[in-house]
Amino acid sequence: MTDVLVPALVRRPGTDTFDGLVESRTLRVGIVGLGYTGLPLGLGFAAAGFPVRGLDTDAARAAQVMRGESYLPDVSDAELASVNSRLSATTEPGELAGSDVLMICVPTPVTGSQQANLDYVDAALASVAPLLRRGMLLVVQSTVPPGATAAAVAAAVAGTGLEPGIDFHVAMAPERVDPANTDGWNLANTPKVVGGLTPECTRRAALLFGQVCRTVVPVSSLEVAELAKVFENTFRLVNIGLTLELSDLCQELGIPVREVIDAAATKPYGFLAHYPGPGVGGECIPVDPLFLREAAARAGTDMELVAAAHRRIEQRPQQVVERLGALLDRRGRSLRGAKVLLVGVSYKTGVADLRNAPALDIVRGLRAAGAQVSYHDPLVPELEIDGAAVPAAGWTAVELAQQDAAVLVTPVRGLEDDVLWGVPPVVLDTHNRLSAASNVAVL
Ligand SMILES: NC(=O)c1ccc[n+]([C@@H]2O[C@H](COP(=O)([O-])OP(=O)(O)OC[C@H]3O[C@@H](n4cnc5c(N)ncnc54)[C@H](O)[C@@H]3O)[C@@H](O)[C@H]2O)c1
Repeated sequence: MTDVLVPALVRRPGTDTFDGLVESRTLRVGIVGLGYTGLPLGLGFAAAGFPVRGLDTDAARAAQVMRGESYLPDVSDAELASVNSRLSATTEPGELAGSDVLMICVPTPVTGSQQANLDYVDAALASVAPLLRRGMLLVVQSTVPPGATAAAVAAAVAGTGLEPGIDFHVAMAPERVDPANTDGWNLANTPKVVGGLTPECTRRAALLFGQVCRTVVPVSSLEVAELAKVFENTFRLVNIGLTLELSDLCQELGIPVREVIDAAATKPYGFLAHYPGPGVGGECIPVDPLFLREAAARAGTDMELVAAAHRRIEQRPQQVVERLGALLDRRGRSLRGAKVLLVGVSYKTGVADLRNAPALDIVRGLRAAGAQVSYHDPLVPELEIDGAAVPAAGWTAVELAQQDAAVLVTPVRGLEDDVLWGVPPVVLDTHNRLSAASNVAVL
């Protein structure tokens, strides 16, 4: 692509203070990691008029950005095209030299022992540490346990002679993006929490994010920002765990759980509705609370409520398998040899993201019980679990008629009211979203 320009390296005269660069939109923004969080952020700054250079270790992603092709549901090709003179991408850290701010937006998964895996953050910081200059701002957007930003930055700059908070500024600005959100929440209208290593770090980060976010919430430290983020998702985990317990109770009592929650949600204060499903997935809700538990363990305190929610939610995919087995049993069938179609396998509606998706453990459980599993998900063209492919199936009357059962795992847009749900002899609805019918059972 020839019409994507590298951000201008020449500054307008008289604009060389941080505030001046922000005001004149000449502050050069470097984004490290162009995924679900980094690309919309880069797009937001480019749309606001700033020159943005993205860095990603994935050459295909960098090339797609340069070609103006989006790989994310919330970013359109047209949006990329609209900023193509200001947004570019590379795989070479050195090409971010001259940036005035660097933002770290790389993954923070967990290790096999359920500890925060900060390898991506450490590698990203190591790759850009040689680019740090006096007066620069370094922002960590990745979700990390409290204390991790200061420790990772200190380790990355050890030996450079630069002192964080004195020679350059450091802030934590946790990401709240909700991929494929349909309620209109986006970078501009979602309040942004920022906490700096020093008050001046916070001020600079707040000024900068104020250019792309309508509301900025400055907090007193890096650690407050870090902990606020993990607490937000822990709040969701614990409440989802609670809805699973309610769901099981309702199942026993023969009371529709969704109606109970919807009724409770009419209370105008003090209640926030969460709904039961087949489990939780993605890189945030199942993962961030582990960071909180890790911090608690280090501090010698207890997060037993969070641990209980994790345990409850982890059991849920197997509960789906067992419930389906019971439904088939009632019809004189068993899971062994049964043809089971999973509908929607990504962790949430509208995305192709399979990270920690409950569907993965449901497939494992069904396979262990001897079922023949296939799936239908228009956003996921191929699915391989534990080295074995799961065949994709179409959404047609002919293919559905060949199934012994279908399981709604993640709602697929456009299918919830489809008449073809009437075709399989058994349908298990893990979200309580389908219309009542004699073949449909709610988890
Ligand atoms: N996805 C979400 O919904 C969401 C929401 C809020 C917060 N977060 C947090 O944001 C952070 C990033 O998550 P994400 O979903 O954007 O991840 P992602 O996997 O979508 O994107 C991360 C990108 O970083 C790149 N990368 C990895 N190591 C790199 C390195 N050393 N240098 C440059 N690029 C590198 C990867 O190739 C990838 O393109 C995580 O901490 C996550 O928990 C994610």
